Amino acid sequence: MSGDTERADSLRLHLDRPSSARIYDYMLGGKGPNNYAIDREFGDRQLATMPDLRRAMRENRRFVGRVVETALERGIDQFIDLGAGLPTQSQPHEIADRLAPDLKARVVYVDNELIAHAHSEILLASTADPERHQAVLGDFFNHGALWRSIRATGLIDPERPTCLLVTALLHFMFPEDRPDVPMSVYRDKIAPGSLLVLTHVPDVPEDDALQEVTREYGTTASPSYLRTDEEFLEFFGGWPLLEPGLEWTGLWRPHADRSQEPWWDEDTRGLPEGEPWWEDQPSRMYYRAGVAVKP
Ligand SMILES: C[S@@+](CC[C@H](N)C(=O)[O-])C[C@H]1O[C@@H](n2cnc3c(N)ncnc32)[C@H](O)[C@@H]1O
Repeated sequence: MSGDTERADSLRLHLDRPSSARIYDYMLGGKGPNNYAIDREFGDRQLATMPDLRRAMRENRRFVGRVVETALERGIDQFIDLGAGLPTQSQPHEIADRLAPDLKARVVYVDNELIAHAHSEILLASTADPERHQAVLGDFFNHGALWRSIRATGLIDPERPTCLLVTALLHFMFPEDRPDVPMSVYRDKIAPGSLLVLTHVPDVPEDDALQEVTREYGTTASPSYLRTDEEFLEFFGGWPLLEPGLEWTGLWRPHADRSQEPWWDEDTRGLPEGEPWWEDQPSRMYYRAGVAVKP
């Protein structure tokens, strides 16, 4: 099969079914043309089953914002975002440039979804600094080729600490596909003092809505696999976790005044996001989060 035919087939596959990149973009508030009717319909069905899903996803983004802030405070000025999705909603490069413009942080976004990648390239070219922010098309599992592509951007110095973000990605990976292998390679590649940032939806067998949504994801281009905290922790490779350890996203170092957090979005779709919305049930946030430091 020629490269072009393969690419066309792959593109068709990506359009036939909803994809996690575009569903997620829609949930966060992204509008067409970055996501499609098929993604929006799927997203709306999931919201009917799990009404907290949209704000849980947005809470995951808020967490990413606070982690970028933490990385900058530690002097880290280079970021790799694996499974970055579409760069339409409060991205690390925007947060870094806003919080520490003088640091001139460099960010490499990686995704394996052709459409997400194509839109990323266009968006970054028109709204970011191509000298410091680049999107790479690559697959998490192809760690050798992917690391070479990341290095080829010239933006990441592997001798200096990096903030490696792998958020809301590992729950799309099944144990039989051995995501632990590429994770250990990426852990090896980054320098001591680097931060490894992971979020993951936990397995809660008694949560019927979560189980139903997970089953539904099985019909998309992105079936998902939920893990217990113990299973999730293994991806950190035993590195020490920054306080407060493994937590629900919104409880990981929240600002006293949530409206001052490094996340911004005027389109809150009516959600009172300045206040903790989960009340006394943090599990409504769905994503577990942790940040480890490479010794
Ligand atoms: C739910 S989004 C997460 C976006 C972002 N990391 C966040 O936390 O807000 C998951 C992304 O991972 C991408 N993805 C899934 N499998 C991948 C793989 N094997 N390699 C690279 N990216 C992948 C999807 O295309 C999608 O954009």
